Amino acid sequence: MNRTRHHFLRDDNLSPEEYAQVLELALHFKDDLFYRRTFAGPRSVAVIFDKNSTRTRASFAAGVTQLGGYPLMVESTTSQLSRGESICDTARVLERMVETIVWRTFQQADVLEMAKHSSKPVINALTDEFHPCQVLADLATLAYVNSKKSGQEFKNNKQKVAGIRGKTLVYLGDGANNMAHSYLLGCATAGVSVRIVCPKSYSPNLQIVQDAEEIAQKTGAQVIVTDDVNAGVEGADVVATDAWLSMGMDKSEESERTDEFRRFQITEELIAQADEAAVFMHCLPAYRGKEVLEGVIDGPQSVVFEEAEFRLHAQKALMDYLYTQTTCKV
Ligand code: CP
Ligand code: NVA
Repeated sequence: MNRTRHHFLRDDNLSPEEYAQVLELALHFKDDLFYRRTFAGPRSVAVIFDKNSTRTRASFAAGVTQLGGYPLMVESTTSQLSRGESICDTARVLERMVETIVWRTFQQADVLEMAKHSSKPVINALTDEFHPCQVLADLATLAYVNSKKSGQEFKNNKQKVAGIRGKTLVYLGDGANNMAHSYLLGCATAGVSVRIVCPKSYSPNLQIVQDAEEIAQKTGAQVIVTDDVNAGVEGADVVATDAWLSMGMDKSEESERTDEFRRFQITEELIAQADEAAVFMHCLPAYRGKEVLEGVIDGPQSVVFEEAEFRLHAQKALMDYLYTQTTCKV
């Protein structure tokens, strides 16, 4: 277990019990946008971007506002960070002014450094290695969609969250990117079996696979990494993919990657091999005609816009959870 005191830098910073509590809270926020006013005052949250964003930017800005707070949106190019001020000094300044620091950047080591020097929660809003807020939102989406579609009776949100345990999510494409790594850890933590289907040369980091396996042993999930597309998709409850070239990667790799990943493309024929009630997920932005065909992403099984909406609910739940933990400990 990779525990930090109250930060969310990778998916397994929350225990399975804590993860389930945050998912449950996300479902409460789906029912009532103003379920909690965590940052009433208003208190501020810094949201820093070193990379482009639409969903993360909008969902944190709206989410902090709905929690009664003020989102201090920082483009790193206009901050002193980009002129070489240290992460340590930045953390020591921000922790005196804001309640939480949300950061989208390149190196995982940098969010770790920020967390090391901040007494306030630090949230990873995407690094090259992980995208834990996205997977939290995806699993909340799964709980929500499953509760609507399965025909089962769910008495409360706790039961809806419990309803995803034992489901299977398959992710196809770049197995070495942030989404693949976060699916491994996040799904294992939530008790959802995860299959990463990718070319051998784009396999996930071995240590992260081992970490996921260790968690999965406790939660009853299964972890599989394979390059067998048909076996990977067979009977899955969620079929997911992501762009073949992530932010920060060299554009010159694009044509080689397109060749490597072509057979992992999500087509109507491929998704038909999953469970008949399977849903399609994509963190977005998507490249239609590359990693997914239009007929799938715009088709009846796609829940990509519910998924985008759940960024809002899941991150509000996360911010509330981490902030409450922090203030309780002081
Ligand atoms: N999925 C996601 O993080 O989207 P943005 O890059 O638009 O924030
Ligand atoms: N893997 C993608 C995710 C975008 C939300 C990237 O890092 O660009």
